[in-house]
Amino acid sequence: MTLTLARPDDWHVHLRDGAALAAVVRHTAARFGRAVVMPNLAAPVTTTALAADYRRRILAALPPDCRFEPLMTLYLTDRTSAGEIGRARASGFVHGVKYYPAGATTNSDSGVTGIERVRAALAALEEHDLPLLVHGEVTDPQVDAFDRESVFIDRVLDGIVRGHPRLRVVFEHVTTREAVDFVRAAGPRVGATITPQHLLLSRNALFDGGLRPHHYCLPVLKREAHRVALVEAATGGEPQFFLGTDSAPHSRRDKESACGCAGVYTAHAAIELYAEAFDAAGRLDRLEAFASHHGADFYGLPRNADAISLVRERWVPPESYAFGDDELVPFRAGGTIAWRLGAPGGG
Ligand code: DOR
Ligand code: ZN
Repeated sequence: MTLTLARPDDWHVHLRDGAALAAVVRHTAARFGRAVVMPNLAAPVTTTALAADYRRRILAALPPDCRFEPLMTLYLTDRTSAGEIGRARASGFVHGVKYYPAGATTNSDSGVTGIERVRAALAALEEHDLPLLVHGEVTDPQVDAFDRESVFIDRVLDGIVRGHPRLRVVFEHVTTREAVDFVRAAGPRVGATITPQHLLLSRNALFDGGLRPHHYCLPVLKREAHRVALVEAATGGEPQFFLGTDSAPHSRRDKESACGCAGVYTAHAAIELYAEAFDAAGRLDRLEAFASHHGADFYGLPRNADAISLVRERWVPPESYAFGDDELVPFRAGGTIAWRLGAPGGG
């Protein structure tokens, strides 16, 4: 069976920098027309000038004749000024500003330490109609690791959304029924990305015959009932939910460690994995809207004019990819993936 759909976009990806960028960007560029590139580099992308430099490095790392477009983001800090938000909007290449609670995840040390510190920046985002992209987890060590998303809704996100009635917000990588319900109730100015691993796996996958570091990401996988709620949201045709892989490469050394990094690498098979999830739900007819329409509509960008095709045919991804001086273990390494990417536009 072959499925043809308008070329999808990835509304949340980590491309890293340097040798890591060079190793991974072709996977994203082979599938997606555009991708929203996260700004959590070791030196965070906090200004429009830094985003312009990073964008040039991404374009330079692309294969020849590649039409992939990186959509840049800024990293929100306690010191981000309203003027910087205005410059970001005027640039035309910055499409959102990322809110990391300080300490929540990889390279988030420069993130927001308290909502009161970013009031002026949020007002500027609302004024300039530039979306706020939110990593929605509290960092309070008293809060159970599996509850950090739902507690964030009550303690932080609900207040942001109510306090800024015109602010557009993307609740990134939602993982719980509570998040899905919140997004639905908030109406069309609040969107949400959903990753392939959160559609395909419950938290049991972290402990499948032993500890599985390559299934560890943040927000962490949740129990099965939440996975089912995410599948319903993704496959339900609701325009607020769209594709965002959160593909987050880390070296094998950094993953298989006594204190391993969070992140699942899915860029090598991203749209194929979403096809598996939609196929399992009997809703392949809804894949195109989720993958190729809803995100572009939310961000106010045109939908892609070209197409890709997917073939229901098993293949085995490699055990690892070269990754600087180490290697990168992709999702399903050594296992099988049920769909493969066909020739552009058909066949
Ligand atoms: O698992 C994750 N990895 N979650 C994040 O929020 C960040 C990401 C990364 O950059 O590695
Ligand atoms: Zn991410």
